[in-house]
Amino acid sequence: MNGASDMLALVVDSVTPLTPAIKAFVLRSANGEPLPPFAPGAHLGVQVVQANGHPGQRAYSLAKPHDGSDRCEIAVLCEPQGAGGSAWMHALQPGTALAAHAPRNDFALHAGSAPPLLIAGGIGITPLLCMARSLAAEARPFDFVYATRSEEATAYLHEVRALGGTVVHDGGDPSRGIDLRALLAAPMPGRHLHVCGPRGMVQAVVDTARALGWPDDHVHFELFAGAIEQAGDAPFEVRTLRSGKTLTVAPDQSLLDVLIAAGLDPLYDCRQGDCGVCVVDVVEGVPDHRDHNLSPREKADGKTLCTCVSRAKTPHLVLDI
Ligand code: FES
Repeated sequence: MNGASDMLALVVDSVTPLTPAIKAFVLRSANGEPLPPFAPGAHLGVQVVQANGHPGQRAYSLAKPHDGSDRCEIAVLCEPQGAGGSAWMHALQPGTALAAHAPRNDFALHAGSAPPLLIAGGIGITPLLCMARSLAAEARPFDFVYATRSEEATAYLHEVRALGGTVVHDGGDPSRGIDLRALLAAPMPGRHLHVCGPRGMVQAVVDTARALGWPDDHVHFELFAGAIEQAGDAPFEVRTLRSGKTLTVAPDQSLLDVLIAAGLDPLYDCRQGDCGVCVVDVVEGVPDHRDHNLSPREKADGKTLCTCVSRAKTPHLVLDI
């Protein structure tokens, strides 16, 4: 689980615009030591400052496989409607110090006995590019499809094409994008599907794969961090039953961050609604579930919620913590 002990002191080494809205950042360790090893699909939990001055954390996938050096690369989409973390990242200059949790991997590559299928949407390219680079370096076959709005909005276009990937531009209309039924038509033993991108695209890929017979344990997905925030989020109040606190969660804060800032010591791990480590019991109020861990039955029951991503449909929640 995350904690202060896994924090890395980093320095921005270089900043490269990839598109009008996406920048690549090469980060290096501040002490020159090699970075901890990581596998394709891993991300850094970068500590950012949001527009309201509150600290926050953003998960940025690593775009290149670990090479034993003191450097790594991430890419960041600036989201003007977000809480300000990505805009803060975009303002960084070479030489700026950064703190980040050591790489974690909640989206591991499953090479299997058949060529893996990699599907990326938008900024979701970063972990899949890392996987493709790793597979290519090992001369292992794979299939790689990447959907973006337009050529101008496509980060790493030449890199993906050089790896044999297919790039599809949908003009902002997913129905003109990847033909999922054709792409996923033939699941086969040992072939694993990996998808990362916006929520709607990931959901469409996962739903289509299930409908076409892909086993759940052969379908692996990750949402990029910004996909968790939704327009129109309202503040809500939380009372913690056992620790006796009453807290307010602002629209640009996660419940988990508010609990931590209040001095509680909640369990958490992925911060993306995947692992279930942060699940707590709900005593009063109606959760607004945004995780991928709880079952549809558990979500309908409303007796638990993931503090890292979920919010409230009611003005107040009472939690058994
Ligand atoms: S920390 Fe993993 S689901 Fe919340």
